[in-house]
Amino acid sequence: MARRKLVAGNWKMHGLAADLAEVVAVSNAARTAGCDVALCLPATLIERAVRAAPGFPIGGQDVHQADKGAHTGCVSAAMLLDAGASLTIVGHSERREAQGETDANVKAKAEAALLAGLDVILCIGESDAVREAGAAVPTVLAQLDASLPASVADPSRFSVAYEPIWAIGTGKVPSVGDIGEMHSALRGRLKAAYGEAGDAIRILYGGSVKASNAAEIFAVEDVDGALVGGASLNATDFLPIIQAAR
Ligand code: 13P
Repeated sequence: MARRKLVAGNWKMHGLAADLAEVVAVSNAARTAGCDVALCLPATLIERAVRAAPGFPIGGQDVHQADKGAHTGCVSAAMLLDAGASLTIVGHSERREAQGETDANVKAKAEAALLAGLDVILCIGESDAVREAGAAVPTVLAQLDASLPASVADPSRFSVAYEPIWAIGTGKVPSVGDIGEMHSALRGRLKAAYGEAGDAIRILYGGSVKASNAAEIFAVEDVDGALVGGASLNATDFLPIIQAAR
């Protein structure tokens, strides 16, 4: 099935008002990109970015599963929508590791975000030790099974991002063969979970995607885009990745 590619940036804990110019430059280029483009920003920048780049998809990097309540420091789906966001990441490995988020937490977050009307990018990926032990595929499939929302009404609003932890911010990237093996296994599991809709869900690759390796990664079967960290922080690095997705 032909799926329109999605290239999403994850700014992590980077970005001040001065960086809004990068959002505007990316949003201008996105109009003629021929693929979907989005930027997931720190919560503090979301509303200003939406005002600076009207109509361009701005996302959060995490969301709480509850509508509201005594959850100091957290942000709900209603709050992200209120700020103008149209999507959110859930289950990034940096949150799973540093904040102790479980698959069950991630599933609840994905379900709450979809129900509220946010598009969702759900992250999964194995550690270096798991890859070295030869257990990457079964480990990531188990993570997927336990993190997936119970239902996905509109597959165009839900994506899975395969991000091997050892490839994030390291400059190391799996071989195209290893990426293809993982994405094909994930595709099988999405179809098993959701039937035909599982074929329409985009599977992004994330981890040290750069202008220099984007084209060969995008050419791999069942790679439907990328979730980009460091190289999404400025338009000069990010635009060639978007161009490679055409
Ligand atoms: P890098 O592109 O900096 O490796 O980060 C990937 C990532 O974690 C995106 O969510």
